Formats: sequence, structure tokens, C-alpha cells
Amino acid sequence: MNSQSFLTKKCGLPIKQALMINPDLAAYMRQNGLDLGNTKALLMYNQLILKHFMDLEFDLPDGYLVPTICSRWAFLKHILKSKPKNVLEIGTGASAILALMLGRLGISVSATEIDNTAFQSACSNVRRNNLEKSIILVKSNRQLLVNLIPQVSEFDLILCNPPQYDEVYFEQHRNSNRGFLGNYSEMVGGQIGHEFILSLLSELRTFSNPPPAYFQLTLPKLQPKLEGELKNQKYNFSVTSKQIGTRLRLYYKVKITENQAMG
Ligand SMILES: C[S@@+](CC[C@H](N)C(=O)[O-])C[C@H]1O[C@@H](n2cnc3c(N)ncnc32)[C@H](O)[C@@H]1O
Repeated sequence: MNSQSFLTKKCGLPIKQALMINPDLAAYMRQNGLDLGNTKALLMYNQLILKHFMDLEFDLPDGYLVPTICSRWAFLKHILKSKPKNVLEIGTGASAILALMLGRLGISVSATEIDNTAFQSACSNVRRNNLEKSIILVKSNRQLLVNLIPQVSEFDLILCNPPQYDEVYFEQHRNSNRGFLGNYSEMVGGQIGHEFILSLLSELRTFSNPPPAYFQLTLPKLQPKLEGELKNQKYNFSVTSKQIGTRLRLYYKVKITENQAMG
């Protein structure tokens, strides 16, 4: 199945069907449905969704961010409209979820990750799905692009689901009933939260003819500050909002113009 035919396929798996595929999920059923605030239940359910939807498998080390498959797919659907063939992902995470989905669609991906354990886990998820030919994983250091990806301009686009919590918010929510929550480096984007995104863009500006960068905001409260900064720094950007269940996602595309690129 190619990427364009996948665009019409619906992501999801009714809980009833998930329970038939993996009866262990029953341990997490409550009166009002599956306890998705429980990390194990959330992981198991999303593993089943991914298998059902794209015949892909993933696992995670304990304590790492659990990706919600259909929300990642909604983000990818958005970027797939530009029909990329060669994508650079920044911060692929322990799941390597965006890279795996793109790889399954026959798209070439280079994906970076800074955290050692997450990097090893991403490698194992790529191998597990026999996608080594489509996905190259790059262990990064503090820098996001500079001294790491010299060939940035050869990619059709840059993709990122950035860490974007501020430190205080993260500390307040880390013990809350949010099954997806990962560790500090996965979640915290800086003191305000948007610093990671701004660093990525300022590194991108140092390349000549850089491709557009696509990233998503999962915390809409960050929108005014982020857009204020993007305007201040005269970035050319567009934003698309998407309601996924009860949550709002904002998809950004930033294109660095010839004048702004310093490379
Ligand atoms: C919000 S998570 C997204 C993970 C995955 N892409 C997903 O959508 O579930 C952000 C990821 O960026 C990684 N990260 C943080 N700083 C980084 C850097 N300087 N270079 C590469 N990855 C980084 C984190 O370790 C984390 O895995």
C-alpha cells in the first residue's frame, strides 16, 4: 500500500476488537472503558492499533513517552500532502514512531535522537520491522542540525514533534494520570517550552536553501508566545489546526527564505 492510498484509510481500533486480539488488555478495563491513564494499558492499546493499521510493531523502555498512534498519523497525513520522498526527523524518540510509519510508506527517513536509551530502542524498533533500508538513525548531541546533518538541504522536509512543556508544567504533571508522559528530555522544550523549536529554526537558518520545517504543537497554550517569536524573527510560517477527539493540535510549516538563510 503506498502513502496516497493510506491517506483514505481510517486509523483506529475499537476496544472490543483490541480485547479480542489481546485479552491481557481486560486487566485495564474499568466501568467507563479502558484506563488510558495507565501507561501499560495505553502502550498495549497503541501497539495493537499500529499493528492493525500499518502492520508495524514497537516497544519502549519503561518510563518513555508512549505515542498515541492516531494523533501521530494525523500529523503525518498533514505533511504527506506535500508528497515527500526524503524526510529528516528531529527527535525520533524511543518508539521511532513517525519514522516507522514513513518507512512503511516507502519514504526514506533520516532520524536523530539525543537520548542513549531512546536511540537504542529506536534502532531495535527499526530492525524489528525490517526497515533498516528506509530509515537511518543518527545519534545526536546537543546540537540539532549543525555539525550533525551537513546535507540538510537535500531533504524534502524536516519533521519534528518537539519537546514543548515548560519545566514547571512538567513537574506539576509528571505524576498525574497521564499515561503517555515521558521523561524530561522527551517532554521539556525549555523554560517557556518553545525554546527547542526556536533553536531548531535558528540552526536551520545557517544552511543555504533549507527545506521547510514542519512541527506540531500539542500544547495550544504555547501558541501566542511561539507565534509572537516567529513574527519577531520574521519567519514565514503557516499554521493549520486540527481537532483530534477532545484535543487541539496545531501544525506549523516554517519556510526559511533565501534572505533569512545565512548559509
Ligand atoms: C516529544 S518527543 C517525540 C518523540 C517521537 N518523535 C514521537 O513523536 O513520539 C521529543 C524527542 O526529541 C528528543 N530530543 C531532545 N533533544 C534532542 C536533540 N538535541 N537532538 C535530537 N533529539 C532530541 C527527545 O529525547 C525525545 O525523544
